Amino acid sequence: MTNNRKLKEWVAEIEALCQPEQVYWCDGSRREYDELMAQMKACGLATPLPKRPNSVLFRSDPSDVARVEDRTYIAARTQAEAGPTNNWIDPAELKTTMKGLYNGCMRGRTLYVIPFSMGPVGSPIAKIGIEITDSPYVVVNMHIMTRVGQKVIETLGDDGEFIPCLHSVGKPLAPGESDGAKWPCAPIEQKYIAHFPEEHLIWSYGSGYGGNALLGKKCLALRIASKIAAEEGWMAEHMLILRLTSPAGKAYHLAAAFPSACGKTNLAMLQPTIEGWKCECIGDDIAWMKIGPDGRLRAINPEAGFFGVAPGTSEASNPMAMATVRKNSIFTNCVLTPDGDVWWEDMGVPCQEGIDWKGRPWTAASGEKGAHPNARFTAPAAQCPVICPAWEDPAGVPIDIFIFGGRRTQVVPLVTEAFDWDHGVYLGASAASEPTAAALDVKALRYDPFAMLPFCGYHMGDYFAHWLAMGDRLGAQAPKIFYVNWFRKDAGGRWLWPGFGENSRVLKWMCERVDNAVGAQETPIGSLPQPQDLDLTGLDLASQDLAELLKVDRSAWLAELPQIEAFFAKFGDRLPARLRTQLDAMRTRLNA
Ligand code: GTP
Ligand code: SPV
Ligand code: MN
Repeated sequence: MTNNRKLKEWVAEIEALCQPEQVYWCDGSRREYDELMAQMKACGLATPLPKRPNSVLFRSDPSDVARVEDRTYIAARTQAEAGPTNNWIDPAELKTTMKGLYNGCMRGRTLYVIPFSMGPVGSPIAKIGIEITDSPYVVVNMHIMTRVGQKVIETLGDDGEFIPCLHSVGKPLAPGESDGAKWPCAPIEQKYIAHFPEEHLIWSYGSGYGGNALLGKKCLALRIASKIAAEEGWMAEHMLILRLTSPAGKAYHLAAAFPSACGKTNLAMLQPTIEGWKCECIGDDIAWMKIGPDGRLRAINPEAGFFGVAPGTSEASNPMAMATVRKNSIFTNCVLTPDGDVWWEDMGVPCQEGIDWKGRPWTAASGEKGAHPNARFTAPAAQCPVICPAWEDPAGVPIDIFIFGGRRTQVVPLVTEAFDWDHGVYLGASAASEPTAAALDVKALRYDPFAMLPFCGYHMGDYFAHWLAMGDRLGAQAPKIFYVNWFRKDAGGRWLWPGFGENSRVLKWMCERVDNAVGAQETPIGSLPQPQDLDLTGLDLASQDLAELLKVDRSAWLAELPQIEAFFAKFGDRLPARLRTQLDAMRTRLNA
């Protein structure tokens, strides 16, 4: 419990509104985790996995399988503050609607109060949140994904600040009713993932899944934090963080922003295929960065676990993730195998039959997917065999390199180096990606600036300006910026680049560029390696494929310009003039 008056008053207010059967304050202990798991196993919601110590499988409702972007709101005071890329509703109107939904919504349930820290408890970069939820699934996931418990309450003290995060699955229980094995949630039209940025307040209703419900992640650490970061002069980004060490022992720290399900977890745990290089993981989804006393940008991972995409994860693609999820892990929407393990598509091991993510008997022969494409694992970061010794350093690690990217089967080359900071910000601002399973409502190529389209808590034009301002402050100490694309395909749909561990070859080139130790060729879109600049030792890559990967197709790029221009036009006069200058300069170079 706490003596923090604001916290006590808030919990009492929510208790009166939501009318739970009881209130429980989480202490973050192992015992608490085990007890909640035991309850969920007893009612059939959680299935134990005898093959993986202390691990369980959950199946969500088929209507509740991913973030719901069209039900996610930035309820800023004015629509202009939310900007053209966010859903906006008047905050007063939204609060009235949501209070109606919250009224009595926890009947028959326990209200859990989860004190959590994003970042090492007490770190100057960390922030405290309090999540109120009626979902024990959320509590156990928060145990893994954040730092939960009494230490947070102590750090908060009697008058410390916290970010209130209210969550309900939106399924009150009638007297005598219980969920049994059924995942509770509300119908789509009642789901709201709401942010009140001026108040630093989060209200989520109706979904129990991932970023909709684990409110420390996208809601706090990105949408609300991006807004606070802009006010305070730091950065909250949808980025992995890794440390690459050269054979000579020099360490480089990289932070990379790719849209959801576009390879952050894979790159974060990369195993280099090149001799003598070592890679260590610091974070796989979110980076908080502040300029340190030495003038360099220092990054921490505010999370404590990984909530990673399961399908596609295999010993071949991401052996470190496979090792991380061997025990103490939560799986959601995977296949349950007859011998009590989990399975998913492209796991690299055969599975003929099992129970699919909808809980039905399933056979591989049916041709249907057994796991949901956005099936996920929740696992403690400390279990990753290549977790960096500095991953919990409260001071953060100094960033040398920023990488942007997306999923582009055409046009965009394997790697491009920005000419300078402004050009790099332009590359980030004009990033685009093809659809993935992490956001099911996205059907076509979309511009996803800095991989923050669904996560920026304020006007995206102002966010661009913030990036430019950070570069001005960092000056010569600013990280070098690159753009990558691991996803090029040929006309027949074959990947042109092997990806995964082989991406280390591209990262090596970047590090050597930082040191001015390798060549590059200037092109209209940026500097690209020539074939001899990349270390391709031992890689079986056809020279015509390499040529295609490093080609700059002027006419294809000219054809992209009107789309970029139309996207930028959305921001009106809040598009920084420096980005318009970049766009014009690129057109001039392409036409030269
Ligand atoms: P969120 O957790 O949603 O933010 O996503 P993420 O960016 O961490 O995605 P993740 O690393 O889990 O990537 C998921 C998908 O990208 C899987 O289908 C992977 O197989 C695929 N992927 C990752 N890296 C590569 C690569 O280098 N090449 C190819 N072809 N696919 C890749
Ligand atoms: C993403 O979609 O970018 C994720 C998963 O990292 S979720 O936490 O569900 O947002
Ligand atoms: Mn993410």
